[in-house]
Amino acid sequence: MVLIAPSLLSADFTRLEEAVRLIEEAGADIVHVDVMDGHFVPSLTIGPRVVELLKSKTALPLDVHLMVDAPGVVIPWFLDAGADWISFHAEASAHLHRDIALIKTAGRKAGVALNPATPLVVLQEILSDLDFVLLMCVNPGRGSQPFIEASRGKIRALRRWRADLGLIRPWIEIDGGVNLRNLSELAGDGAEVFVAGNAVFNAPDPREAIRLMKAAASREGTP
Ligand code: DX5
Ligand code: ZN
Repeated sequence: MVLIAPSLLSADFTRLEEAVRLIEEAGADIVHVDVMDGHFVPSLTIGPRVVELLKSKTALPLDVHLMVDAPGVVIPWFLDAGADWISFHAEASAHLHRDIALIKTAGRKAGVALNPATPLVVLQEILSDLDFVLLMCVNPGRGSQPFIEASRGKIRALRRWRADLGLIRPWIEIDGGVNLRNLSELAGDGAEVFVAGNAVFNAPDPREAIRLMKAAASREGTP
């Protein structure tokens, strides 16, 4: 499975409807929505009302990445807003199991996000409950940062761990610094869901960038 998830963080926030239509037409698979609270990360972005409006503008699933403290408080807001996938940070949740259950009970896809310095082992007791793991390949908070090379070992380790357990999930989503140059090798490492902000919206032709990314990811596609 290979999914391309353009991140609206690099889109023009006054023209989000156009952005979601563009990525849908270009063949993107899901829409990545970065929610930042100004505490967990030093930036404020999108709230549930915008997610609700985006939901009415696209048929693509909305992949809401919560970079917020106390995610258990806001998860219900984004469920109500129509988020299809929700991830929250392990570093921000004291109750991983409960927060995952909140999302899954609503019939949505549940993921846990890990910062670059957070080891995979924090997922030990909940791995099989997860639909996906979001591996941050930059420190969260803003777009257009360089890919942290050590992330590749973590992608491979997660794929190996999942295979050892005989699981097909959690899917491996990577976020930060993904571009046309590194995408194929990251697919080879085991990444399956590719978030890309800068590499899509700051490309000379964002539609073409999505098409090329899809092709590059599929060539190296993982089982
Ligand atoms: C960063 C966000 C990312 C961001 C990635 O904190 O979680 O989703 O949009 O941006 P690029 O692809 O530009 O690194
Ligand atoms: Zn993100």
